[in-house]
Amino acid sequence: MIVILLGPPGAGKGTQAARIMARYGLVHLSTGEMLRAAVAAGTEVGRKARKFMDAGKLVTDEIVIDIIADRIEADDCRNGFLLDGFPRTVGQAEALDKLLKNKNLKLDVVIEMEVDDDSLVDRITGRHTCAVCNQSYHDTHLKPQNAGVCDSCGSTNFNRRSDDNHETVISRLATYHAQTAPLLPYYSKHGVLRTVNGMADIDDVAVQINDVLSVL
Ligand code: AP5
Ligand code: MG
Ligand code: ZN
Repeated sequence: MIVILLGPPGAGKGTQAARIMARYGLVHLSTGEMLRAAVAAGTEVGRKARKFMDAGKLVTDEIVIDIIADRIEADDCRNGFLLDGFPRTVGQAEALDKLLKNKNLKLDVVIEMEVDDDSLVDRITGRHTCAVCNQSYHDTHLKPQNAGVCDSCGSTNFNRRSDDNHETVISRLATYHAQTAPLLPYYSKHGVLRTVNGMADIDDVAVQINDVLSVL
């Protein structure tokens, strides 16, 4: 199964991807996470990507298309994958179509997660993740059961992303509306777009997504 999670920054793509992975055994491919790893490792890609990410702008199509083209060749992608944050431009979507066609693969569904802009700012500025296992939390919506202790691994260290500040979030939202929202009519025309209400609580969104995936 090949699935795309499409939605603005903070829509809950990463949160739901973790649940879909656990339930359907799909590999989670997040270009944002891959780029952050490249930045942390100080690679050439990381150096090029950093200035765009810090400004809330998109990294060039060429960089992310190369990353995805390489990654889907790996053995663990044989049974399908879940794309989170890719594609983000019509150019990336067209490149993905070509990559899949060459491999005789079919895109099953694009799940749009619809959330109001105001809620997105609150979600992103409250987000933090476990520094050890990367489990994601929110200051008010998704706290660890014991304050300051990760539910999954017991760590007491948490990180906040450098692009999760108010100013960059506003820029990331503008970028989404200008460059990524055109993918909605693109995939609608291809007959693969399904929309879920991302304003619902996390468990409810998971149920809506499961309703879409379970009938594929
Ligand atoms: P990326 O890492 O993809 O960031 P993003 O798209 O801005 O999305 P986020 O990861 O911020 O949000 P999310 O939807 O995953 O939300 P989450 O589940 O964490 O990209 C970062 C940067 O890399 C880009 O700006 C760009 O520069 C570059 N980049 C990446 N891909 C690229 C590409 N293809 N082309 C070019 N450049 C690219 O949830 C957020 C918070 O809300 C969490 O705290 C969570 O607990 C909470 N939450 C989740 N769901 C709910 C809910 N239903 N109710 C209440 N709270 C909730
Ligand atoms: Mg994410
Ligand atoms: Zn942890």
